Amino acid sequence: MTKAKNSNLQREISWLLKEKYNGQLTNKAKKDIARLKNGQPLDYVIGFTDFLGCRIDLSYKPLIPRVETEFWVKEALDDIKESFDYAQDKTLRVLDIFAGSGCIGIAVLKNTNTLLCDIAEKDSKLINQIKKNLKLNKIDKKRYKLIESDIFKNIKKKYDLILANPPYIPIKNKNKIQKSTLKYEPKDALFGGQDGLYFIKKFLKKAKNYLTENGTIYMEFDFLQKGKIEKFLKNFEYKSWQFHKDQFNKWRYVKIML
Ligand SMILES: C[S@@+](CC[C@H](N)C(=O)[O-])C[C@H]1O[C@@H](n2cnc3c(N)ncnc32)[C@H](O)[C@@H]1O
Repeated sequence: MTKAKNSNLQREISWLLKEKYNGQLTNKAKKDIARLKNGQPLDYVIGFTDFLGCRIDLSYKPLIPRVETEFWVKEALDDIKESFDYAQDKTLRVLDIFAGSGCIGIAVLKNTNTLLCDIAEKDSKLINQIKKNLKLNKIDKKRYKLIESDIFKNIKKKYDLILANPPYIPIKNKNKIQKSTLKYEPKDALFGGQDGLYFIKKFLKKAKNYLTENGTIYMEFDFLQKGKIEKFLKNFEYKSWQFHKDQFNKWRYVKIML
């Protein structure tokens, strides 16, 4: 093991002991340390992560929420609060699609009072994960609906806002991603076909039909996909859009207006 890898492992072990075991090296903690040594992601070993003030359980092994996603969802929430009459108690309808752990929708619900947010995901196992996280964060059942759906197949309503983090890694770049991600995180959450654009294109083609008159989409993507996405937006006749960078100065999400 290289020095850098070893010091990273030591850091993860300290964090694990502090977060999960109150600093005690119990037998269970020793087993978890072995999982870390085998390369399992720290968040899976701890069993949960934090996302914009929400506790996100990861026991069903959804995609581990990323800090880049947390960054744009925070920007989207600030934007929504500023520009959508939010202060006037208006009820806005939001859709979190490609939901995984449910982190995006749950952050919307927990960080606002009047927004309603439906949460859609294809994988039935993850529907249970999202249920668990909604309960864990004490979200009022009247404010959401959980929908098992292959993209828009079972979506029946129109929404003021759609927030999407589709799988977008190109399969051809499989060898460039972190080994532990490739080994332990769900492939369905990572890959978007050979060029990574398979779900993005399908999503953008249909999404405008699920937006209300002044509806807005926020969608995450990989920084190399900006040019292709711009072409899709022109082809599918969206009116206007703005691309935004993440905290690492890389193109990361697009805000699309009807
Ligand atoms: C990149 S992950 C995003 C998870 C979560 N929203 C987040 O930001 O951490 C994409 C999610 O889309 C789901 N997914 C894959 N194919 C889908 C499809 N055809 N329809 C709906 N969801 C799909 C995967 O199961 C995965 O949970």
